[in-house]
Amino acid sequence: MNNKELVKAAFDAMQKAYAPYSSYKVGAALLGKSGKVYSGCNVENAAYGPTNCAERTAFFKAVSEGEREFSKIAVVGGKDGVVTDMFMPCGVCRQVMAEFCDSDFEIIVARSEDDFTVFPLSELLPFGFSKNNITD
Ligand code: THU
Repeated sequence: MNNKELVKAAFDAMQKAYAPYSSYKVGAALLGKSGKVYSGCNVENAAYGPTNCAERTAFFKAVSEGEREFSKIAVVGGKDGVVTDMFMPCGVCRQVMAEFCDSDFEIIVARSEDDFTVFPLSELLPFGFSKNNITD
């Protein structure tokens, strides 16, 4: 699965977004090391706090299906599903990525299928806290 194909899968996932409160529709496509792709969209809630981001939806789907190793994720989003700029993953989603991914995990943020930027996780979450920081 190349980056362009993963971005296309993220655009497809964005169509499923449930965002009646913010109107920001977000889609993610996460590539597991098995080769399987897990899609995710944001799922909002009237109480706001229970809202789940697209990236975490994809991660939690994957982990709940037994996948724990990942190589890259594509993310797209925009108001009413209109993508005009890169949609950067929030801090909570970056922390979830750090739980399961190495520092070279690739985060692909796209404006279109042909216009995207790739960041390593180490650049988006420098000096992060992870299981490596916990000792008995
Ligand atoms: N959102 C995501 O899906 N991913 C992020 O990384 C940041 C924010 C969603 C949450 C909410 O439904 C909407 O975007 C506006 O914050």
